[in-house]
Amino acid sequence: MTALPDDLARALDDALDRVPASRLTPVVERLIGDYRGGPGNVRGGVATAPILRTDDDAAAYAAYRMPATYTAVYDGLSRAAGAVAALAPRTHLDVGGGTGAAVWAAARLWPSLGSATVLEGAEPVIALGRRLVTGAENPAVRSARWERTLLGEGTTLPDADLVTVSYVLGELSEPVRGPLVDEAARRAGTVAVFEPGTPAGYRRVLDARARLLDAGMTVAAPCPHDGTCPVIGDDWCHFAARVDRTSRHRGLKGGTLGHEDEKFAYVVATRGAPAHAGNRVLRHPLQRKGLVTLRLCTGDGAITDRPVPKSRREHYRAARDTGWGDHWPQLDA
Ligand SMILES: C[S@@+](CC[C@H](N)C(=O)[O-])C[C@H]1O[C@@H](n2cnc3c(N)ncnc32)[C@H](O)[C@@H]1O
Repeated sequence: MTALPDDLARALDDALDRVPASRLTPVVERLIGDYRGGPGNVRGGVATAPILRTDDDAAAYAAYRMPATYTAVYDGLSRAAGAVAALAPRTHLDVGGGTGAAVWAAARLWPSLGSATVLEGAEPVIALGRRLVTGAENPAVRSARWERTLLGEGTTLPDADLVTVSYVLGELSEPVRGPLVDEAARRAGTVAVFEPGTPAGYRRVLDARARLLDAGMTVAAPCPHDGTCPVIGDDWCHFAARVDRTSRHRGLKGGTLGHEDEKFAYVVATRGAPAHAGNRVLRHPLQRKGLVTLRLCTGDGAITDRPVPKSRREHYRAARDTGWGDHWPQLDA
């Protein structure tokens, strides 16, 4: 479980304490419907009007979604950092960055980051993002700048070492989405795209992955190869990150568990990365008595179920500690 940094948790509490839960709860319910593509303003997985329009929308989003998007982005970027140790971005551009979840996540991971810029269209969201970072301990977070930008056809981006596009592509129409990813690839050393872990989110990530590869980038995570994705048919490649739930979070979403699993699909691509090594665990490992079976995406772009019996002592111990989304170095275990 990746806990929110204390300063972010405090900032969220301070901001949300100003809004009575009785006002936020119905907004959370509406947003859940909208983001699930219900009858609100998302059609065919694409928003037809801005989803976050008011101060209460921004607060509700920060309350029930920001911890999850923060955790997913932190998880995916950590996998990329694990695969490409040389990654040390100094500048960060967060496109459609909302209240800045990716800014907090990237700055926690890479102390090299000195500046962050968030491009965001909704004023109330910008105001809340700015308010949240005022007490941040990390100078790169504290000094993050929000620029009001409406992403559209022909949007150009400034250069940055790292560009994140997190949970945004689904809100953009097709003619905006693809060219935006192409533009990110032109401007950045590393591009990270995150989407909900649904079939539709996966398809958007797959399209982004193809565009990033066409632009000459290499996949740092999750794929251990740059070839065709082997996840086909009814299946979709996605991962899960465990999110700590505060009592406010439980209250707003009507849940009782102390955690929830955020399912997400993602790709992080970079330039000049070293060759791929190892494999990616695609599912929760299957644990039986004396046997762990890992479903792996391999370096040659195949999917294989790898049984690791207890007789292979070291490998078995490692397999028992391995989780969905982890890197698995051996194929011969
Ligand atoms: C689901 S939120 C994700 C926010 C943030 N990236 C995160 O991961 O938590 C999508 C954000 O994109 C913004 N957005 C959607 N369409 C946009 C557009 N055309 N131009 C600028 N911002 C847009 C929304 O206002 C919202 O803040």
